[in-house]
Amino acid sequence: MDPRRVRSTSPVPGHVAIVMDGNGRWATRQGLTRARGHVAGEKALSQVVEDAVEIGVRHLTVFAFSTENWCRPAAEVDFLMTLMQRTLRNRLQRLHANAVRIRHLGRRTGLPPTLVSAIETAERLTADNDRLTLSLCLDYGGRAELVDAARRIAEDAAIGTLDPASLDIPTFARYLYAPDLPDVDLFIRTAGEQRISNFLLWQCAYAELVFVDTPWPDFDRRHLRQAVEIYATRNRTFGTVEDPGRSAARSAPGRQPCTSTNAP
Ligand code: IPE
Ligand code: IPE
Ligand code: MG
Repeated sequence: MDPRRVRSTSPVPGHVAIVMDGNGRWATRQGLTRARGHVAGEKALSQVVEDAVEIGVRHLTVFAFSTENWCRPAAEVDFLMTLMQRTLRNRLQRLHANAVRIRHLGRRTGLPPTLVSAIETAERLTADNDRLTLSLCLDYGGRAELVDAARRIAEDAAIGTLDPASLDIPTFARYLYAPDLPDVDLFIRTAGEQRISNFLLWQCAYAELVFVDTPWPDFDRRHLRQAVEIYATRNRTFGTVEDPGRSAARSAPGRQPCTSTNAP
């Protein structure tokens, strides 16, 4: 079955997505450079990955660098690229030992070649791991992902391998960066801002949003568990209501078909 069609109502979110925000403010508040904040944020991430494995989360998708983050000062961008490369190198064996599959979501063409090769090494080594999939969003933008998908769809339509009339939600989803990535169940953003900032626009269609004030470097297992507890209290209805007669109404002649967000 297409994993996208599975609507999670389990108390443990299958797919957790995190906007790891607040590294800079965390550092500035302590009189440190923003770079030190990113280093602390990287440590928080490696701990949270282990906590997510322990909780039983199957997909953890983290926002590490957005398409908009290129507009930051060059020194910060360079530092982040180097840090990400170092992280992939230093954390790889432990992640692999924990059966974590690593993959990248985003555009690769603008990333430094040495980072791309570190990504490829990590993806290759961990490809068969199945305990948790850690998707690292680097040079990722939700709009860019949709535009990239639309471009490839248009290309396939132009050469005749896709009939535009057959385009539906599952077909469109096959053109996303990671076609097997399920919908986000729990979206967490740290550091107090309550916005999505162009993260996983398609996959968050029915995500439960949890905003926490803690800056990312201070986010730990307690915060993750709290967010999961909040998630477990949410009533996920996906646009429907409990109604035993619903299937009959759906098939009533002349009525609009029931097409929920992730229906075919
Ligand atoms: C998130 O922290 C890390 C990245 C965007 C790379 P920020 O760097 O955005 O930290 P603040 O929001 O300025 O505090
Ligand atoms: C979102 O955080 C991107 C990442 C966490 C990588 P930003 O700090 O870049 O987003 P805005 O500027 O607050 O929207
Ligand atoms: Mg920020």
